[in-house]
Amino acid sequence: MDTIAVMDFGGQYSHLIGRRIRNLGVYAEVVSPRRTKDSLEKIDDLKGIVLSGGAASVYSDDSPKPDREIFDLEVPILGICYGHQLLAYMTGGDVESGDSGEYGTTLLKLSDRKTRLLRGLDEDEEVWMNHKDRVAAMPEEYLTVASTESSPIAAFVDSSRQRYGIQFHPEVTHTSKGGKVLENFVISICKASRDWNPTDLAPGLVDQARDYIGNRRAIIGLSGGVDSTTAARIVGKAIGRDLTAIYVDTGLMRQGETESIRSTFEDSALELEILDRKEEFLEKLKGVEDPEEKRKVIGNTFIDVFTEKANSIGAEVLVQGTIYSDIIESGSTTHSDTIKSHHNVGGLPEKVDLDIYEPLKDLYKDEVRRIADSLGLPGEIINRHVFPGPGLAIRIVGEVTPERVEIVRAASYIVEDELKSAELYEDVWMGFAVLLPVKSVGIQGDLRSYKYPVVLRIVESEDAMTANFARVPYEVLERMSTRITNEIDRVNRVVYDISNKPPATMEWE
Ligand code: XMP
Repeated sequence: MDTIAVMDFGGQYSHLIGRRIRNLGVYAEVVSPRRTKDSLEKIDDLKGIVLSGGAASVYSDDSPKPDREIFDLEVPILGICYGHQLLAYMTGGDVESGDSGEYGTTLLKLSDRKTRLLRGLDEDEEVWMNHKDRVAAMPEEYLTVASTESSPIAAFVDSSRQRYGIQFHPEVTHTSKGGKVLENFVISICKASRDWNPTDLAPGLVDQARDYIGNRRAIIGLSGGVDSTTAARIVGKAIGRDLTAIYVDTGLMRQGETESIRSTFEDSALELEILDRKEEFLEKLKGVEDPEEKRKVIGNTFIDVFTEKANSIGAEVLVQGTIYSDIIESGSTTHSDTIKSHHNVGGLPEKVDLDIYEPLKDLYKDEVRRIADSLGLPGEIINRHVFPGPGLAIRIVGEVTPERVEIVRAASYIVEDELKSAELYEDVWMGFAVLLPVKSVGIQGDLRSYKYPVVLRIVESEDAMTANFARVPYEVLERMSTRITNEIDRVNRVVYDISNKPPATMEWE
């Protein structure tokens, strides 16, 4: 399978480069900047390399830099933003701090429209920029093909060695012809074939799991969502009954979750154990208000439960359904910032006695859904809304108490139920309720009430990295509001969250 390696220097959008390339039908793998020339050469059918953006300055001593030898590889290389500067800097050019940065939409003037990389772009093209440093000089054989007001060398080409640099970001949608630039690079310059389909990955993932786990025993924590269910199916195919699936009832699950898990897996060959640990989780969360602290408490408790179980059955491997966006947001890629510690990645204790195996860690949600479909998982699981590992705990702002859990569980159920009745459930990424730790005055049955407000959070997203609040019809919102205040005694007010991500996140914690 033809592959493009995307070297990740920690830019906010590095992951998007890989995603856009895969959307062209070409397999892209995001790789560490520490990969050497030799190790890159081992990638089967490597057709090209993209150097991503990043926040550092190439001329500072501690900035991430690749092995100089990678520039000797025979494949085309495209540098984007920091990668553009790096390519110039490490191959004989120079980079300096600009007088002023360029942030946002910027006018790019093409001086050579024949260059293959920029074919299809206009002479004046709006592109999206996010930088202060700029390329100041280049080796002789490089040709400047575009400039902006602050970046005289905004794009360069060395067509004999197939080296390309662009200061702008083609991967973000604000660069309207960005997709065309990536397509020019991947298809016409690297000559990669569009032979990739995520469903093709399933057999390889099964083989990889078999190779990795060998004849050891493994356990997997099932949450009922598509990620862990798909991971369980893949590893189950690889090692059969050496895999034990564990569903931990934390008391923080959605309404009816435990029953639904039981019925989904009733007839499957997978060995499933349901552990009731409600009291333990709630006890440990007593008095904890900080969101990161909540995640860590829950992550640690999960690991305690898993380790205890693994020891009792002699399992050495813990399989996790972590996907790529979980890793990015937990700050676990080399240079990215920690937005939230997702409990199945960043929220884990530093030392875990089990060997962790994450078969889906390079995939996006929509890709996991396609693989799940190819494995024959039921539509109900595939299309189910995402549910975070820490569960309802991160949908209660402030301390988690049994009363608050009950309220938020019941309210979330109503949100999902009404979305289904309005046939909107599958159009949105997630719909749920959040409980705020304040009270407000209301009037119910001629009497003054002083109760909690509930926030409705319904968002649309493609891959969880960005999101918009959903434009749900008022009638549907009104039905949710009426049901929540009628059916849940401790709530007298319902509000709708109209924030996008960024600047907000989907969950409130
Ligand atoms: P945010 O709130 O970061 O959420 O915009 C993006 C997506 O990730 C889910 N999420 C989590 N999933 N463990 C998980 O397994 C977590 O700790 C976690 N936090 C957020 C969230 O539900 C949304 O779909």
